[in-house]
Amino acid sequence: MSHRPESREAGVGSESPNLDFAGTTPYEDYVRADVLTHLQHPLSDDPGEMVFLVTTQVMELWFTVIVHEWETAGQALREDQLPVAMDALKRSVRELEALNASWRPLSQLTPTEFNAYRAALGEGSGFQSAMYRRMEFLLGEKSSSMLVPHRGAPRVHAELEKALHQPSLYDEVLGFLARRGHAVPRAVLERDLSQRYEPSAEVEEVWAEIYSGDRDADLARLGEALTDVGELVWRWRNDHLVATRRAMGAKTGTGGSAGVAWLEKRAVKYVFPELWTARSRV
Ligand code: HEM
Repeated sequence: MSHRPESREAGVGSESPNLDFAGTTPYEDYVRADVLTHLQHPLSDDPGEMVFLVTTQVMELWFTVIVHEWETAGQALREDQLPVAMDALKRSVRELEALNASWRPLSQLTPTEFNAYRAALGEGSGFQSAMYRRMEFLLGEKSSSMLVPHRGAPRVHAELEKALHQPSLYDEVLGFLARRGHAVPRAVLERDLSQRYEPSAEVEEVWAEIYSGDRDADLARLGEALTDVGELVWRWRNDHLVATRRAMGAKTGTGGSAGVAWLEKRAVKYVFPELWTARSRV
């Protein structure tokens, strides 16, 4: 006996998709599309605000995936499983490309267009994105003051605090290089993990050595995957900077910073610094 009366009535053959579900569809149960597509609550009547909101939400989702990949990579390195770490890092490179491509709808926003809903954002700013902060922490850009905005949100605060004290992805890389016999200084391996990673001449020497010889070809490939990550994060920061400059010139940010001048300082920073400086010595 068929339990698919609607399919029969519609005259659909057996090769057609199932139309008959007792509750919500299995797709909905997995994707939660109904939840996801009802999370858009613009604050103004301006029709252009929707794409600003959704682009921000899309980026938050990519941040979430990328954090997952870098945590996977860090864990794999801790367990000396380089191939697992490489797979996660390479996935994250593709994801960073997709993240960066999602700037397109906002990249030519004019001040007039942005002004149409800017005031409605109040003090809201991407600076308050906890998932972006976790990405930065994983890159070694630790700062306990970045927890302050999240004091009122216990789960977010707890996750960020945990991330602050955990090794960054780069700390895991350097621990792995040390176990592979490279002279990563003890001071670097035993550093206070809650502080920003500071570049080290000895670590630069380690990368220069890895890139110069052919003994550690797999480590050079790891270095290149990290360099791809670093480049794409730098590109995200710079695309953000340029979009901001186009949309609001030198006005102060909704988050209270000097705006473009503040972002410029952030955008010049190198991700995984010694991987860039070591290149002059290879
Ligand atoms: C064109 C539209 C945008 C403008 C004009 C803009 C403007 C700004 C400004 C001025 C800041 C500095 C902090 C402040 O005072 O608010 C900032 C920070 C930030 N924005 Fe945007 N933003 C835009 C789009 C986005 C989008 C779509 C995202 C995606 C989540 C985002 C994420 C961030 C993040 C993560 C920071 C902090 C950066 C850091 O800590 O280095 N922004 N934004």
